[in-house]
Amino acid sequence: HPPVSQMEETSLLRRANCRSKGGASGFKVAILGAAGGIGQPLALLMKMNPLVSVLHLYDVVNAPGVTADISHMNTGAVVRGFLGQPQLEDALAGMDLVVIPAGVPRKPGMTRDDLFNINAGIVKTLCEGIVKCCPKAVVNLISNPVNSTVPIAAEVFKKAGTYDSKRLLGVTMLDVVRANTFVVDETLQSLSSSSAEVLGIDPRDVNVPVVGGHAGVTILPLLSQVNPPCSFTPEEISYLTDRIQNGGTEVVEAKAGAGSATLSMAYAAAKFADACLRGLRGDAGVVECSFVASQVTELPFFASKVRLGRCGVEEVLPLGPLNEFERARLEKAKKELAVSIQKGVSFIRK
Ligand code: NAD
Ligand code: LMR
Repeated sequence: HPPVSQMEETSLLRRANCRSKGGASGFKVAILGAAGGIGQPLALLMKMNPLVSVLHLYDVVNAPGVTADISHMNTGAVVRGFLGQPQLEDALAGMDLVVIPAGVPRKPGMTRDDLFNINAGIVKTLCEGIVKCCPKAVVNLISNPVNSTVPIAAEVFKKAGTYDSKRLLGVTMLDVVRANTFVVDETLQSLSSSSAEVLGIDPRDVNVPVVGGHAGVTILPLLSQVNPPCSFTPEEISYLTDRIQNGGTEVVEAKAGAGSATLSMAYAAAKFADACLRGLRGDAGVVECSFVASQVTELPFFASKVRLGRCGVEEVLPLGPLNEFERARLEKAKKELAVSIQKGVSFIRK
């Protein structure tokens, strides 16, 4: 990125502060992997967020082009691009929130765990940069396998002595977005009329807690806790649970080798980042699901509802009452999660 003089910097920030509606001066947000399938639409959505005053776009390829393009949008955030490892530290310096969608996506026939060998190293390197340049930033980790990359990030931060479990959040928002969509989906009409109560409701007004983790059976929608309350037949529960758990694979197969979910993911990531920024601003009652350090089960990390605040995760909320189906699925989820978490931890401790 071109060097910015002191005067230019001051004028850029003054511009950002004037135009931003988020708090006194808005927040500084970096996207690592900003030129990718998720990164580009996410950059666009973050440039539209009035809480963001400075947006740093980092990638190992194409960052200047994406930055030039996004920077022409007439919204408040000042956009700067950073290309390649030598510019990582500049990209991260002083950031309040770092969103990480860097890494390879799945192709048909692969599991998220098949991405471990490549993405673990990428996440490790990026987190080492965070340690050096913005150890107090809130981190939203999107790169798969999330069930392992979050423990990897935690271990990197622990090793450096900068770990604050409140500031590390695995992004599982897409599972919630899918669950909210699918329970309202018209395909339910063909199953039974008992679900009619949710039909016709705007999916934005539906909230399905999704707990556990972000891969296959570890994705556990709590359909007994849907808000607004609604009842499902056992067939509907089985159909919905399956579809939510396999939503990622549905997209991977439809894209037939061209990658995995990018647009719905960017939407979900932007929603989640916005919730984190509202929390940092001090808004009350900001609650979303996320894969975080947790004591809700015996596992060290678990996805559940969390209350977001000025320091990141203010409170990890309990699971609430589960029915028999959910209790059985929880046991299955925990078994797989334990292995994935340990794999991430061992990658750094080895
Ligand atoms: P993509 O290949 O389109 O983009 C990834 C970007 O990361 C590329 O631009 C690439 O240059 C960049 N990159 C690679 N190594 C990097 C490094 N060391 N530093 C910075 N940038 C680097 O992939 P995508 O579709 O955007 O998916 C990215 C990741 O997100 C994948 O691991 C995917 O599985 C994951 N994902 C997670 C969720 C979720 O719900 N958490 C949803 C969808 C995808
Ligand atoms: C998703 O859920 O869409 C992502 O985790 C990407 C994938 O590999 O399925």
